[in-house]
Amino acid sequence: MQYTKPATASVSRSRYNKTRPSDTMQTDRDFLPFHTPDIGNEEIKSVVETLRSGWLTTGNKVKTFETDFAKYIGCQHAVAVNSGTAALHLALDAVGIKEGDEVIVPTMTFTATAEVVLYFKAKPVLVDCEAGTFNIDPLDVERKITPKTRAIIPVHMAGQSCEMDWIMEIARKHKLKVIEDAAHALPTRFDDKMIGTIGDITCFSFYVTKPIATGEGGMAVTNNPDWAERMRIMSLHGISKDAWKRYTNEGSWFYEVLFPGYKYNLTDIAAALGIEQLKKCDRFWQARKQIAAAYDEGFAALPEIQRPACMPNTQHAWHLYIIQLATERLRIDRAGFINALKDEGVGTSVHFIPLHLHPYYRDMFGYQPADFPTASRVFEGIISLPIYPAMSEQNVKKVIAAVTEVVGKNRR
Ligand SMILES: Cc1ncc(COP(=O)(O)O)c(C=O)c1O
Repeated sequence: MQYTKPATASVSRSRYNKTRPSDTMQTDRDFLPFHTPDIGNEEIKSVVETLRSGWLTTGNKVKTFETDFAKYIGCQHAVAVNSGTAALHLALDAVGIKEGDEVIVPTMTFTATAEVVLYFKAKPVLVDCEAGTFNIDPLDVERKITPKTRAIIPVHMAGQSCEMDWIMEIARKHKLKVIEDAAHALPTRFDDKMIGTIGDITCFSFYVTKPIATGEGGMAVTNNPDWAERMRIMSLHGISKDAWKRYTNEGSWFYEVLFPGYKYNLTDIAAALGIEQLKKCDRFWQARKQIAAAYDEGFAALPEIQRPACMPNTQHAWHLYIIQLATERLRIDRAGFINALKDEGVGTSVHFIPLHLHPYYRDMFGYQPADFPTASRVFEGIISLPIYPAMSEQNVKKVIAAVTEVVGKNRR
């Protein structure tokens, strides 16, 4: 067993042993939830300080979080917003997506990646994924480009980088913008480059299950000052910059509305959490990496379980550990396997139900399963297992034992 319990986990476990919401929601206290955030005393102290400061909305904590985040990624500008979806929306606005444009989006993603395209009355053109990584298939990207295509949104599935060299080359050739959906990708690298330093704008999510969490939150990063400025203005009603200061000593009562913007600003309460979570980002990653290594070893002797493919030229963030069932070797299907794991006390999830299988995308655009053969096929067998720093060594062993047990009972 290679996994050793990270130092932060012990703090969180003792703090949450009696009160974790996921525990209180379960009647069986031995149930291992799919995810629980790792919130330590540092985050609690930082949030309490912010509450006591009297400044709850966007302020100095948000500024600090933006500065720290840009430094961590190694980029020029970071704009904090209240969700990853908001970051994606503002990014598409900044690069000038308009009604009637087409934007290339993988079918293997969460609906947020495509719905933001629809906000502009533009068309999300879905493309298939690669079989091993579930990342966007660059060959299919090239096939789907038309004279109306304006941008590509690669999603770094599970925390593993897409083929960014290839995607950037396609984008340059066809004069397309690249907006990276890095909701899973912190900290992820392609070759030696940090995700957040490659595409035109990169969008992160701090939703509760994500690599670092502020409950709800997001960040758009870029090296282009004009886009950063546009995103900042549009994130707060399209009001001239530093509008958030208008109720401070330094601020002024005078402001001008430059565009019809949105209400996407992050609160200082959330940023107070984010600042502390970011400090732990590398430790969290190490803990997830160790769990992934333990799973890899634990499932190595099970031909019924295909382990995640790991590309040599990437640093995998291990946000998700997605197994693929060799269903032809089993007497139960994916739903049966998930239920059996639940009976063993292990919570799981599925990332993702491909967009083309959802009623909206199917009916609105006429997408068929056969249009996306790889995503349609792999979807039938994928299961995401728990992988988060608050897991103990026992928790990891429990998952391996549960998967082994379910396979053993249901082998053909
Ligand atoms: C791939 C992907 N993109 C975007 C999002 C949206 O992030 P948020 O929930 O912060 O809006 C998610 C969230 O689950 C996601 O998984």
